[in-house]
Amino acid sequence: MQSIIDDLNWRYAVKKFDPKRKVNPKDVEVLVETMRLTATSYGLMPFRLLVIDDKATKTKLKEASWGQSQVEEASHVFVLCNILKPGTAEVDAYLQLISKEREIPRENLDGFAQRLNEKLKAPDEELSNWSARQAYIALGALLTVCASRRIDACPMEGFDPKKYNQILNLNERGLNAVLAVPVGYRARDDKYQFVKKVRPPREEFVIK
Ligand SMILES: Cc1cc2nc3c(=O)[nH]c(=O)nc-3n(C[C@H](O)[C@H](O)[C@H](O)COP(=O)(O)O)c2cc1C
Repeated sequence: MQSIIDDLNWRYAVKKFDPKRKVNPKDVEVLVETMRLTATSYGLMPFRLLVIDDKATKTKLKEASWGQSQVEEASHVFVLCNILKPGTAEVDAYLQLISKEREIPRENLDGFAQRLNEKLKAPDEELSNWSARQAYIALGALLTVCASRRIDACPMEGFDPKKYNQILNLNERGLNAVLAVPVGYRARDDKYQFVKKVRPPREEFVIK
């Protein structure tokens, strides 16, 4: 039986996708849900997801990614965008949602609201770093679930966020592109699938 370790060894950061192979909509939904269901600090989910599959936008994103062709050739590109300044608006919306989903009075959440608002008083840069870190948690889950379903992916920070923000109209929504993840299926001749994984030996990795 195929183990999760087999899946993780199968996975690599794909540089060349097969442009003819598309991820089917059901699988795309599984991947979207994987990210939506991720754990985040306080459960606030201070990031959003864009799913891009049209060629024209993918071509523009490739140009804003130092020409990395995986962005254009992949079936879909997931762009994870952090909320630059999560604040009272996000907290209020979140508390309303908890109150509705769990059927509890909003006032019961006052203590939690206070703690969260206190956290969000941090300087802007600290806040945007914090919200970006939450997006990376979703990235980890995405890569693992992709591997378990034998869907290929390439995690990417190698792009110009300013250009992404412009192409995708992110700034006007208070968002910033933090990660791009092309997903699809590896091309048969992507040579990176044949190179050995390089990781620190276990005895160095697990310290005593
Ligand atoms: C946050 C992050 C950003 C990365 N950015 C890029 C990138 O812009 N382009 C790229 O080809 N690979 C990128 N990678 C892939 C790494 O180079 C790759 O994961 C690493 O070398 C380990 O190889 P493996 O994933 O194939 O096992 C990125 C990986 C991570 C986790």
